Amino acid sequence: MDLKGNSVTWLGHGTWLWTTSEGKRILVDPFLQNNPVCPDDLKQPGPVDGVLVTHGHIDHIADLVGFVGESETPVFASWEVGAYLIEQGAKAVTQMGIGGTIETAGVRATMVFAAHGSGIGDSEHTMSEGGGAAGFMLHFPDGLVAYHAGDTDVFGDMALLAEIHSPDVAILPIGDLFTMGPERAVHAVRLLGVKKVLCGHWGTFPPLTGTPGALRKLVPSDVEVPDLEPGSTFGASA
Ligand code: NI
Ligand code: MN
Repeated sequence: MDLKGNSVTWLGHGTWLWTTSEGKRILVDPFLQNNPVCPDDLKQPGPVDGVLVTHGHIDHIADLVGFVGESETPVFASWEVGAYLIEQGAKAVTQMGIGGTIETAGVRATMVFAAHGSGIGDSEHTMSEGGGAAGFMLHFPDGLVAYHAGDTDVFGDMALLAEIHSPDVAILPIGDLFTMGPERAVHAVRLLGVKKVLCGHWGTFPPLTGTPGALRKLVPSDVEVPDLEPGSTFGASA
């Protein structure tokens, strides 16, 4: 899959690690030590240049504070999730809102809407409200535009995001139960107008039943939906 000199590695579930053509690294939704499908050699991915957080659910932020530790690694999150992360000890959090754009590691990242919750807590207790869930539209220096949907269902304004950003590749959740499954993700692919789709948030636990193969059967034949497993890399070094 051609990603204009950039590459992205799936660490399993909703966790992705980008390496830009300039060698900078951006981690999305650190779920590492506690991620049952993250390969052991990727549970400590080493220093990164920026961390993006889509929402406050435990399967997206569980390892964030441990990962950034005492470092000044920049972290970008919603106002509410950011406040929680600061309280937990993260040192360099930038709080932002949907529609806002920041730059990290040479990449312009716009926080965009996602149709999902964001309560912070464990499976039985929400300890903090967490604001709204988000995705990110990433504009890389060499022109690649990648849409990280975060956790979401399909929503009609994906067409507006396509109009504004013209994404080349979409990273979509397809596992079903907590997000859309393949039968709904096919509509996201159409609204976004992308020809390259990477699938996440599936296969982690038995109820997350969607698969790339199921989505591939539903999309037009000119849309690339590769098979992948935790640890798979796409783009420059694939
Ligand atoms: Ni979630
Ligand atoms: Mn999730």
